[in-house]
Amino acid sequence: ELSPIDKAKFVAARRAADFVEDGMRVGLGTGSTAAWLVRCLGEMVRENGLRIRGVPTSSRTASLARDEGIEVITLDEARWLDITIDGADEFDGALNLIKGGGGALLQEKIVATASDRMVVIADAAKEVAHLGAFPLPVEVVPFGWRTTEALVAEALESMDVMGRETALRMNGTEPYVTDEGNYILDLRLGRIGNARQLALVLNQMPGVVENGLFIDICDTVVVGHGDGRLELRD
Ligand code: A5P
Repeated sequence: ELSPIDKAKFVAARRAADFVEDGMRVGLGTGSTAAWLVRCLGEMVRENGLRIRGVPTSSRTASLARDEGIEVITLDEARWLDITIDGADEFDGALNLIKGGGGALLQEKIVATASDRMVVIADAAKEVAHLGAFPLPVEVVPFGWRTTEALVAEALESMDVMGRETALRMNGTEPYVTDEGNYILDLRLGRIGNARQLALVLNQMPGVVENGLFIDICDTVVVGHGDGRLELRD
Protein backbone atom coordinates (compact mmCIF):
# COMPACT_ATOMS: atom_id res chain seq x y z
CA GLU A 1 0.00 0.00 0.00
CA LEU A 2 1.45 3.37 -1.05
CA SER A 3 1.65 6.37 1.27
CA PRO A 4 -0.54 9.33 0.17
CA ILE A 5 2.47 11.20 -1.20
CA ASP A 6 3.68 8.21 -3.22
CA LYS A 7 0.13 7.57 -4.41
CA ALA A 8 -0.09 11.19 -5.62
CA LYS A 9 3.22 10.87 -7.48
CA PHE A 10 2.25 7.51 -8.94
CA VAL A 11 -1.17 8.56 -10.29
CA ALA A 12 0.34 11.69 -11.86
CA ALA A 13 3.09 9.62 -13.48
CA ARG A 14 0.67 7.00 -14.77
CA ARG A 15 -1.60 9.68 -16.28
CA ALA A 16 1.37 11.38 -17.97
CA ALA A 17 2.51 8.05 -19.43
CA ASP A 18 -0.70 8.13 -21.51
CA PHE A 19 0.77 11.08 -23.44
CA VAL A 20 3.55 8.83 -24.74
CA GLU A 21 2.83 7.25 -28.11
CA ASP A 22 4.51 4.52 -30.11
CA GLY A 23 7.71 5.66 -31.82
CA MET A 24 8.22 8.74 -29.67
CA ARG A 25 11.53 10.06 -28.40
CA VAL A 26 10.94 10.79 -24.76
CA GLY A 27 12.91 12.91 -22.31
CA LEU A 28 13.01 11.12 -18.96
CA GLY A 29 13.11 13.33 -15.89
CA THR A 30 14.91 12.86 -12.60
CA GLY A 31 13.63 12.50 -9.04
CA SER A 32 11.21 10.34 -7.10
CA THR A 33 8.15 11.32 -9.19
CA ALA A 34 9.96 10.86 -12.50
CA ALA A 35 11.12 7.44 -11.27
CA TRP A 36 7.45 6.36 -11.15
CA LEU A 37 7.10 7.53 -14.74
CA VAL A 38 10.12 5.51 -15.86
CA ARG A 39 8.67 2.43 -14.15
CA CYS A 40 5.27 2.99 -15.84
CA LEU A 41 6.94 3.37 -19.24
CA GLY A 42 9.07 0.29 -18.61
CA GLU A 43 5.95 -1.73 -17.94
CA MET A 44 4.35 -0.43 -21.15
CA VAL A 45 7.50 -1.36 -23.10
CA ARG A 46 7.73 -4.85 -21.64
CA GLU A 47 4.03 -5.73 -21.54
CA ASN A 48 2.33 -3.70 -24.29
CA GLY A 49 5.14 -3.62 -26.83
CA LEU A 50 5.44 0.18 -26.69
CA ARG A 51 8.43 1.26 -28.77
CA ILE A 52 10.11 4.40 -27.51
CA ARG A 53 13.59 5.78 -27.18
CA GLY A 54 14.37 7.58 -23.95
CA VAL A 55 16.81 10.40 -23.28
CA PRO A 56 17.59 10.42 -19.53
CA THR A 57 18.31 13.64 -17.67
CA SER A 58 20.76 12.11 -15.18
CA SER A 59 22.99 9.10 -14.66
CA ARG A 60 20.46 7.89 -12.04
CA THR A 61 17.58 7.97 -14.51
CA ALA A 62 19.74 6.37 -17.23
CA SER A 63 20.42 3.31 -15.11
CA LEU A 64 16.78 3.04 -13.96
CA ALA A 65 15.57 3.28 -17.57
CA ARG A 66 17.99 0.54 -18.68
CA ASP A 67 16.90 -1.66 -15.79
CA GLU A 68 13.30 -1.14 -16.92
CA GLY A 69 14.12 -2.28 -20.46
CA ILE A 70 13.72 1.15 -22.09
CA GLU A 71 16.04 1.85 -25.02
CA VAL A 72 18.30 4.71 -23.96
CA ILE A 73 19.84 7.13 -26.45
CA THR A 74 21.74 10.38 -26.01
CA LEU A 75 20.27 13.79 -26.75
CA ASP A 76 22.79 14.15 -29.58
CA GLU A 77 21.46 10.95 -31.14
CA ALA A 78 17.87 12.13 -30.72
CA ARG A 79 18.51 15.83 -31.55
CA TRP A 80 14.92 16.71 -30.67
CA LEU A 81 12.26 15.02 -28.60
CA ASP A 82 8.51 14.59 -28.87
CA ILE A 83 7.91 14.96 -25.17
CA THR A 84 9.72 15.27 -21.86
CA ILE A 85 8.08 14.22 -18.61
CA ASP A 86 9.74 15.36 -15.40
CA GLY A 87 9.01 16.27 -11.81
CA ALA A 88 9.43 19.71 -10.25
CA ASP A 89 10.08 21.20 -6.85
CA GLU A 90 7.54 24.01 -7.32
CA PHE A 91 5.12 25.17 -10.01
CA ASP A 92 3.00 28.32 -10.13
CA GLY A 93 -0.19 29.34 -11.93
CA ALA A 94 1.72 30.30 -15.08
CA LEU A 95 3.35 26.82 -15.10
CA ASN A 96 6.74 28.28 -14.32
CA LEU A 97 8.90 25.98 -12.22
CA ILE A 98 11.71 25.60 -9.75
CA LYS A 99 13.70 22.45 -10.46
CA GLY A 100 17.01 21.02 -9.37
CA GLY A 101 16.27 19.79 -5.87
CA GLY A 102 17.69 16.51 -7.13
CA GLY A 103 20.68 18.26 -8.68
CA ALA A 104 19.89 17.45 -12.33
CA LEU A 105 18.65 20.89 -13.46
CA LEU A 106 21.20 21.38 -16.23
CA GLN A 107 20.44 18.23 -18.21
CA GLU A 108 16.77 18.64 -17.34
CA LYS A 109 16.60 22.14 -18.82
CA ILE A 110 18.53 21.19 -21.96
CA VAL A 111 16.30 18.15 -22.55
CA ALA A 112 13.03 19.96 -21.78
CA THR A 113 13.96 22.82 -24.10
CA ALA A 114 14.69 20.34 -26.90
CA SER A 115 11.19 18.85 -26.58
CA ASP A 116 7.99 19.69 -28.45
CA ARG A 117 6.12 19.33 -25.18
CA MET A 118 7.15 19.35 -21.53
CA VAL A 119 4.81 17.69 -19.05
CA VAL A 120 5.46 18.08 -15.34
CA ILE A 121 4.18 15.49 -12.88
CA ALA A 122 3.76 16.64 -9.31
CA ASP A 123 1.90 16.05 -6.10
CA ALA A 124 -0.44 18.87 -5.11
CA ALA A 125 1.95 20.15 -2.40
CA LYS A 126 4.29 21.44 -5.13
CA GLU A 127 1.80 24.11 -6.25
CA VAL A 128 2.61 27.64 -5.05
CA ALA A 129 1.19 31.14 -5.61
CA HIS A 130 4.74 32.54 -5.86
CA LEU A 131 7.93 30.64 -6.61
CA GLY A 132 10.75 30.79 -4.09
CA ALA A 133 9.86 28.98 -0.86
CA PHE A 134 11.91 26.08 -2.23
CA PRO A 135 15.61 27.10 -2.34
CA LEU A 136 16.57 27.94 -5.92
CA PRO A 137 19.39 25.70 -7.18
CA VAL A 138 22.08 27.42 -9.24
CA GLU A 139 24.73 25.27 -10.92
CA VAL A 140 28.19 26.86 -10.86
CA VAL A 141 31.60 25.73 -12.06
CA PRO A 142 33.90 24.70 -9.20
CA PHE A 143 36.64 27.12 -10.32
CA GLY A 144 36.25 30.27 -8.25
CA TRP A 145 32.89 29.23 -6.84
CA ARG A 146 33.29 31.49 -3.80
CA THR A 147 33.74 34.47 -6.11
CA THR A 148 30.71 33.39 -8.13
CA GLU A 149 28.71 33.04 -4.90
CA ALA A 150 29.71 36.58 -3.93
CA LEU A 151 28.64 37.87 -7.37
CA VAL A 152 25.29 36.10 -7.00
CA ALA A 153 24.83 37.56 -3.51
CA GLU A 154 25.61 41.04 -4.82
CA ALA A 155 23.11 40.69 -7.68
CA LEU A 156 20.43 39.53 -5.25
CA GLU A 157 20.73 42.88 -3.43
CA SER A 158 18.86 44.58 -6.25
CA MET A 159 16.38 41.76 -6.91
CA ASP A 160 12.77 41.58 -5.73
CA VAL A 161 13.20 38.68 -3.30
CA MET A 162 12.40 38.16 0.38
CA GLY A 163 15.54 36.31 1.51
CA ARG A 164 19.10 36.43 0.19
CA GLU A 165 20.96 33.58 1.87
CA THR A 166 23.12 31.35 -0.31
CA ALA A 167 24.58 27.95 0.56
CA LEU A 168 26.87 25.52 -1.22
CA ARG A 169 25.07 22.18 -1.50
CA MET A 170 26.99 19.51 0.39
CA ASN A 171 27.25 15.75 0.16
CA GLY A 172 28.39 14.89 3.68
CA THR A 173 31.56 16.89 4.23
CA GLU A 174 32.29 17.39 0.50
CA PRO A 175 30.58 19.70 -2.01
CA TYR A 176 27.79 17.99 -3.94
CA VAL A 177 29.01 17.39 -7.52
CA THR A 178 26.57 17.29 -10.45
CA ASP A 179 26.68 14.86 -13.39
CA GLU A 180 28.51 17.64 -15.26
CA GLY A 181 31.14 17.99 -12.52
CA ASN A 182 29.80 21.29 -11.20
CA TYR A 183 28.69 22.57 -7.78
CA ILE A 184 25.25 23.81 -6.73
CA LEU A 185 24.42 26.95 -4.76
CA ASP A 186 20.99 26.87 -3.12
CA LEU A 187 19.47 30.36 -2.86
CA ARG A 188 17.01 30.85 0.00
CA LEU A 189 14.84 33.55 -1.52
CA GLY A 190 11.52 32.92 0.21
CA ARG A 191 9.58 34.63 -2.53
CA ILE A 192 10.71 35.58 -6.04
CA GLY A 193 9.04 38.74 -7.36
CA ASN A 194 10.26 38.58 -10.95
CA ALA A 195 11.42 35.06 -11.82
CA ARG A 196 12.05 35.86 -15.49
CA GLN A 197 14.41 38.72 -14.62
CA LEU A 198 16.20 36.70 -11.93
CA ALA A 199 16.77 33.81 -14.35
CA LEU A 200 18.33 36.16 -16.90
CA VAL A 201 20.53 37.96 -14.37
CA LEU A 202 21.87 34.72 -12.91
CA ASN A 203 22.71 33.21 -16.27
CA GLN A 204 24.66 36.31 -17.33
CA MET A 205 27.27 35.76 -14.63
CA PRO A 206 30.57 34.11 -15.44
CA GLY A 207 30.76 30.94 -13.35
CA VAL A 208 27.02 30.35 -13.40
CA VAL A 209 26.17 27.43 -15.67
CA GLU A 210 22.39 27.30 -15.24
CA ASN A 211 19.65 28.06 -12.75
CA GLY A 212 16.64 26.03 -11.67
CA LEU A 213 13.97 28.47 -12.89
CA PHE A 214 12.08 26.99 -15.83
CA ILE A 215 10.21 29.92 -17.43
CA ASP A 216 7.85 29.29 -20.37
CA ILE A 217 9.17 25.75 -20.80
CA CYS A 218 6.45 23.62 -19.22
CA ASP A 219 3.25 23.09 -21.24
CA THR A 220 1.21 20.87 -18.93
CA VAL A 221 1.24 19.95 -15.25
CA VAL A 222 -0.40 16.74 -14.12
CA VAL A 223 -1.23 17.20 -10.44
CA GLY A 224 -1.72 14.08 -8.33
CA HIS A 225 -3.53 13.96 -4.99
CA GLY A 226 -3.04 11.52 -2.13
CA ASP A 227 -6.53 10.08 -2.63
CA GLY A 228 -5.80 9.31 -6.28
CA ARG A 229 -7.54 12.35 -7.80
CA LEU A 230 -5.90 14.07 -10.77
CA GLU A 231 -5.94 17.57 -12.21
CA LEU A 232 -4.51 18.75 -15.51
CA ARG A 233 -3.15 22.29 -15.92
CA ASP A 234 -2.21 23.72 -19.29
C1 A5P B 1 15.83 16.99 -10.08
O1 A5P B 1 16.95 17.75 -10.32
C2 A5P B 1 14.67 17.88 -9.82
O2 A5P B 1 14.48 18.87 -10.74
C3 A5P B 1 13.42 17.04 -9.64
O3 A5P B 1 12.64 17.05 -10.77
C4 A5P B 1 12.70 17.62 -8.50
O4 A5P B 1 13.61 17.74 -7.44
C5 A5P B 1 11.49 16.80 -8.09
O5 A5P B 1 11.86 15.65 -7.40
P1 A5P B 1 10.80 14.73 -6.68
O6 A5P B 1 9.90 14.19 -7.75
O7 A5P B 1 11.61 13.67 -6.01
O8 A5P B 1 10.07 15.62 -5.71
